[in-house]
Amino acid sequence: VIDIRKLYGDSGAFTYDPGFTSTASCESKITYIDGDQGILLHRGYPIDQLAEQSSFMEVAYLLLNGELPSQSELDKFVTTITRHTMVHEQLSTFFRGFRRDAHPMAILCGVVGALSAFYHDSTDIEDPQQRVIASYRLIAKMPTIAAMAYKYSLGQPFVYPKNDLSYTANFLRMTFSVPAEEYEPDPVIVDAMDKIFILHADHEQNASTSTVRLAGSSGANPFACIAAGIACLWGPAHGGANEAALNMLREIGTPDRIPEYIARAKNKDDPFRLMGFGHRVYKNFDPRAKVLSKAATDVLDKLGIDDPVLNTARELEQVALNDPYFIEKKLYPNVDFYSGVILSAIGFPTTMFTVLFALARTVGWVAQWNEMISDPAQKIGRPRQLYSGATQRDYVSVDKR
Ligand code: ACO
Repeated sequence: VIDIRKLYGDSGAFTYDPGFTSTASCESKITYIDGDQGILLHRGYPIDQLAEQSSFMEVAYLLLNGELPSQSELDKFVTTITRHTMVHEQLSTFFRGFRRDAHPMAILCGVVGALSAFYHDSTDIEDPQQRVIASYRLIAKMPTIAAMAYKYSLGQPFVYPKNDLSYTANFLRMTFSVPAEEYEPDPVIVDAMDKIFILHADHEQNASTSTVRLAGSSGANPFACIAAGIACLWGPAHGGANEAALNMLREIGTPDRIPEYIARAKNKDDPFRLMGFGHRVYKNFDPRAKVLSKAATDVLDKLGIDDPVLNTARELEQVALNDPYFIEKKLYPNVDFYSGVILSAIGFPTTMFTVLFALARTVGWVAQWNEMISDPAQKIGRPRQLYSGATQRDYVSVDKR
């Protein structure tokens, strides 16, 4: 018997690390996380300070360039992004190929991938200028495409960008305006939305960002790489968790049913997990959840909405935080636990939640993709495997099997 591992020269040492729990795939200067302390820094700045004092466009500039912009740098950046918000007219036709009841993430994935068929002058990754234009295009067009996906699902006409509005106000207008009624975004809602975008902008080497890097490591064009990131983000263990968390809170309905769901989450024979709880890296409070917990109360109060789901969420958080199972496994609320309550108050259906996450995370994906392409140590990503299949054997024809 030949040991196939030796045959293929695989007897050298390598680490077996499913889920990459302790293997760094790259060096990065963008985002720092200390999961035990619950710290998240972008280019050194704490996430709570950015969420409270900055804007999504400023954070985008910071993630891309490494430093906070001066006022003139910020103005120039915002103007450039704004100039790229339109999409090729033929892209609107592309939407019409989808079923009306398609999940907006399915549409987003397809349409973003198709961008490389429209913008040939920004797909050459060897050209730094083309990389910059592709980055701006992705950040600028994502709100337009996300709003179009929503409009298409409702059977309503697309709303074109209005470029005298801010990035976030423009997105809300494109999403919620109808022909007879121009949507005038409430500053409270614009502020909450902008905060949610900041909190989702980057999170170092999470599954979707690693997917973008892995796709990009082969030299694939940036639009294709971001489409790959969107596909990965869609999963319920990642970006899809905000949709699942709100659905779960609605299903629980009233605080008296919480013990039943806590018991299910602890029962190893039941696949149910408390959505919006637990994180691969945070073994303490997710600092983004802290900001959103406060924002949820502020937004609902300011909008005069009394959503019983928020009470259920608060009660569930308290019960879980005091339960020995959750304490022992260090399971705390993550960014998805409260974001759904706010997004729902703003008027988004749950199917749009992950789309909004993708819109914001595009900034991080693009920053990480650029960092990777510019890194002289960058190589094509090629994980090893621990082969445990059959050793070499001879083919047997079908009549003899
Ligand atoms: N409810 C109940 N038990 C849980 C939960 C949960 N939400 N999360 C983890 N556990 C348990 C697991 O069953 C496991 O128990 P065991 O040691 O007895 O086997 C233990 O805690 C460790 O869990 P893992 O799945 O091994 O941890 P991992 O780091 O791989 O997973 C993940 C992290 C996927 C986020 C997980 O906590 C989870 O599924 N949470 C719910 C989904 C969610 O909210 N995802 C959003 C993540 S944030 C983001 O993507 C933006």
